[in-house]
Amino acid sequence: MHPTREQVLAAIADGPVGGPAMAARLDISRAAVWNHVEALRKNGFEIESAADGYTLAGIPDYGGPALEYGLDAPFEVEYHDEIASTNERAREVAAEGHSDTVVVADKQTGGRGRLDRKWASPSGGIWLSVLVRPNVPPAQAPVYTLIAAVATARAVRASGVEATIKWPNDIRVDGKKLAGILTEMEGEADRISWLVVGIGLNANLDVEQLPGDQPATTLRAETGDVDRRTVVQRLLTEFWTLAQSPPETTLDAWRELTDTIGQRVRVDTPTGEVVGEAVDITPPGALLVETDDGTREITAGDCEHLRPA
Ligand code: BTN
Repeated sequence: MHPTREQVLAAIADGPVGGPAMAARLDISRAAVWNHVEALRKNGFEIESAADGYTLAGIPDYGGPALEYGLDAPFEVEYHDEIASTNERAREVAAEGHSDTVVVADKQTGGRGRLDRKWASPSGGIWLSVLVRPNVPPAQAPVYTLIAAVATARAVRASGVEATIKWPNDIRVDGKKLAGILTEMEGEADRISWLVVGIGLNANLDVEQLPGDQPATTLRAETGDVDRRTVVQRLLTEFWTLAQSPPETTLDAWRELTDTIGQRVRVDTPTGEVVGEAVDITPPGALLVETDDGTREITAGDCEHLRPA
């Protein structure tokens, strides 16, 4: 949001405040105050004007200005009612040179999952991509997937749903998939240029709206419809806080939230299948699996929890 518009909104939220007083305080004309108020109203903010000034009577449910308002992280939000893929759009935003931007959509028509799979994204879900430019080597990129997993699991738990993380990036409830993460990046040998972390969270949807190729669930099914603005803001605040912390903080939080550690697993890796007990995660996000032939450190793969041998 335009910084002055943000100040006008903050002043009204603390209101009642008169137009002339705001103009003087922000050092802008009364006409400019009026223009900002009208623009805010167009964006869905309910601003009442009475003799003692403007007051804020309501905020929009969802959308860019709603998500930026009261967000405790310095992200700009670009919102679309409908778009092919927020990851695709975030890549374009990266190519335009921006950073610290979140692309959010109510509906995706070409949502993408890992391993070139499609990701069903009907209206009512939380489909977003976070664009950042961390000053770290590409080898550190996997930690951002873990950051997203922890941030998503915590935001979901704050809504009362006991979600867990399956390595590396599935958020599940009782073994059913609630959310997935798709991380993409561009960089050179020693530096990430940009990183796009896409998060798809089945929020206010019926399970029947999802393809059914794997056990899946939604927040609606688990707890009823949620206020998506609150969930997204929690998720982004957690994401930002962890991204500013040492990677060990994320790994510790991830260990607390995962149900993969201690499980017998089968992991399909680019170099073959590994079966054994998942015992830990190591920086920047590799899974340690104890097999009959010793301990393996797995950096990428599709993981399946097996029943105990
Ligand atoms: C997975 O396969 O588990 C990852 C799914 C990631 C889906 C999200 S939805 C928002 C963002 N835009 C996309 O096209 N994909 C990701």
